[in-house]
Amino acid sequence: MADLDEIQDGKNYHLDKPHQGSFFYLKGSNSLDWGMKNRLARIFNPASGKTVMLAVDHGYFQGPTTGLERIDVTIVPLVPLADALMITRGALRTSIPPETPKPVVLRSTGGQSILKELSNELIAVDIEDAVRLNASALAVQVYIGGPHEHETIGNLTKVVDAGNRHGIPTLGVTGVGKELARDAKYLGLATRICAELGAHFVKTYYCEKGFSRVAAACPVPLVIAGGKKLPELDALKMAYQAISEGAAGVDMGRNIFQCEAPAAMIQAVRAVVHEGETPEKAFDLYQSVKEVVGAQ
Ligand code: R5P
Repeated sequence: MADLDEIQDGKNYHLDKPHQGSFFYLKGSNSLDWGMKNRLARIFNPASGKTVMLAVDHGYFQGPTTGLERIDVTIVPLVPLADALMITRGALRTSIPPETPKPVVLRSTGGQSILKELSNELIAVDIEDAVRLNASALAVQVYIGGPHEHETIGNLTKVVDAGNRHGIPTLGVTGVGKELARDAKYLGLATRICAELGAHFVKTYYCEKGFSRVAAACPVPLVIAGGKKLPELDALKMAYQAISEGAAGVDMGRNIFQCEAPAAMIQAVRAVVHEGETPEKAFDLYQSVKEVVGAQ
C-alpha cells in the first residue's frame, strides 16, 4: 500500500557517471527492443554468448521417432541440462511440467508428414497461443529451393511480423529435402535469406567446407542442427568445429536423445559449446558421466 511514512529524498545521483547502457552481446541484435533481447538472453547464455538447445519437435512430421516415444519419460529429465527446449505446443502442453524455468522455442509451422512432400508447410500456431504458452521464440521451417519455397518464406515473414508485435523472436530453420546439397553455397543462401527477411536467429546444418563463410555472412546468431545420429565423438567434433567456425550454439536432437546415455551426452555437448572443451576431452566427460548415471 502506498504511504507517506519516512519518505527519503534521493541523495546520490552519481553525477560523475554517464548512464550505464550496454551493447547487447548477440550478433545483429543490438537494435532490438528490450523484450526481444530479454527473451534471446534466456536462450543464449549471457556468460558464453552460446546456447545448447534441445530439439524434440520431430514428432510434428515423423510421429513417435526413436527416443521420442515418451517425451514425458525420456525428455523431461534432460530439460534442466538444456539452455532451451525446441518443441511443439502439443508435446509442451501434454508432457512438459509448467514449473520448468527453461525457455521454450515453439515449433510454429507444420502441415506435412514423412509420407508427403516435406516443404508443404503452413503456419501451425496462432501468435496468441504462443503468448499463452509463454514462448521465448517461434521456430519456422524455410525450404529454400524446395517445391514450396515461396509459401515457406511467406510463413517466415508472417511469423516474424506476429512475433515482432509481441516482442517474441523468430528462429528461421533451414529445412532441406533429400535432393538438396548441404554445402556452403546452399546453406549460405538459405541462412542469409532467413536473416534478411527478419529471422532473429537461424538454424542450419554444419558443412565441412566453408562453414565459416556461412556463419560470417549471416548477420544474426547461427545454431546448428545435429542431423542424423552419429557416433558420440563425431557429433562432438561437429559441434566443436561449428563453434570454432562461428556458430553461436547447437539445436541438437537425435545426437542427444538417441544416444545410449542422453544425460551424459548433453553435458558433453555443453562442455564443447560453453567452455570450448575439445571433442576428445568432452568425450571423456561423456564416458565418465555415463558410467555414473548409466542410460539416462
Ligand atoms: C527437424 O525438422 C526438426 O526441426 C529438428 O528440430 C531438427 O532437425 C534438429 O534435430 P536434429 O539434431 O535431430 O537434426
